[in-house]
Amino acid sequence: MTHDFQLPEAEIPELEFAGIAAQYMALKSEIAPRVAAVFEHGRFIMGPEVAELEAALASYCGAKHAISLSSGTDALVAPLMARGIGPGDAVFVPGFTFTASAEVILLLGATPVFVDVDQHSFNIDCALLEEKIAAVKRSGRLTPKAIIAVDLFGLPADYDQLNTIADKEDMLLIADAAQSFGGVRHNRRVGTLAPVTATSFFPAKPLGCYGDGGAVLTDNDELAAALRSIRAHGQGNAKYEVVRVGLNARLDTLQAAVLLGKLPALDTEIAARNNLADLYDEKLAGVATTPNRYEGHVSAWAQYSILIDDRDGVQARLKDAGIPTAIYYPRPMNLQPAYAEFSDGPLPVSEALCDRILSLPMHGYLVGKIAERIAAEIRVATCG
Ligand SMILES: Cc1ncc(COP(=O)(O)O)c(C=O)c1O
Repeated sequence: MTHDFQLPEAEIPELEFAGIAAQYMALKSEIAPRVAAVFEHGRFIMGPEVAELEAALASYCGAKHAISLSSGTDALVAPLMARGIGPGDAVFVPGFTFTASAEVILLLGATPVFVDVDQHSFNIDCALLEEKIAAVKRSGRLTPKAIIAVDLFGLPADYDQLNTIADKEDMLLIADAAQSFGGVRHNRRVGTLAPVTATSFFPAKPLGCYGDGGAVLTDNDELAAALRSIRAHGQGNAKYEVVRVGLNARLDTLQAAVLLGKLPALDTEIAARNNLADLYDEKLAGVATTPNRYEGHVSAWAQYSILIDDRDGVQARLKDAGIPTAIYYPRPMNLQPAYAEFSDGPLPVSEALCDRILSLPMHGYLVGKIAERIAAEIRVATCG
């Protein structure tokens, strides 16, 4: 079945940053009946939509298993728990990311090792990663156990190199694909690029629900079984049998129903996001540093982020012009007060990016005319 998920221009709501209202208007006829069906059958926890969604997500990505969870954060912590990662273990993570990528390491008593990012892709710098793994091995205090690679703003990281490093060092590689679900790298979808992929269905993500949600994608049967147990309090085969320490981390049936209503539109939306990114590139040439493009990569464009001087001034002027923007992120992990004790030195690229990054409105329902207005306002705003 083909879908035309476009909105008539007259129905487009006012300029939104992430397009949540516009998307609901376009997909209401797909989402609302699915949600109503949950109220009718009343199985709000692990209702039939959860298994249906997991089958649909696995098939969409080409992964053997999709295990839904209550958030992207739980989708990161649960595989670390399944692998028994804890005190004395080092987990490598980029410094330029959302706090959840680092927080899950500390929740388990393991030690985060912050790695700087590549200045063009904004993803983890694999040469620096290798250097930091070697340094941790030399110091002998911690055991390198896992890498959490983040597909920042929707662009898949360099999984050829990351898988090689993880295999060589016998480390677990987790793709933090909270921002990249729907993306592609060399004809393989996000969800199959690393042995374990964690994604988020936070409302503003490329595939978002109407609350918190997440999922792990993997081909590993044993890990999938452990994750199904962990999300249900460590349940064994029998009800009320507890075989491990777990979490209450199941995806609500209502959120699964929302996602089932949205998933068929995802490819159309990602194509629209890519068209919008192309248009921004063209209109902002010479005004700001626009995102780099990589052969064979399709970004999910969770964010379209430019680098710009006087970022805060430009943001304020855009706000006055009615254009919503966001700063992802104002501070790298090594400079966060809660994590500072784990910093092993500056991360010059991450720190410089935090001073100049600005994310523009980006979603699958933002029409070209409005994007042109945004670009025009940016031109004016950058002139001071
Ligand atoms: C890179 C990254 N990792 C992890 C998460 C955590 O996802 P959630 O908010 O669903 O827990 C997010 C979401 O904001 C994210 O952007």
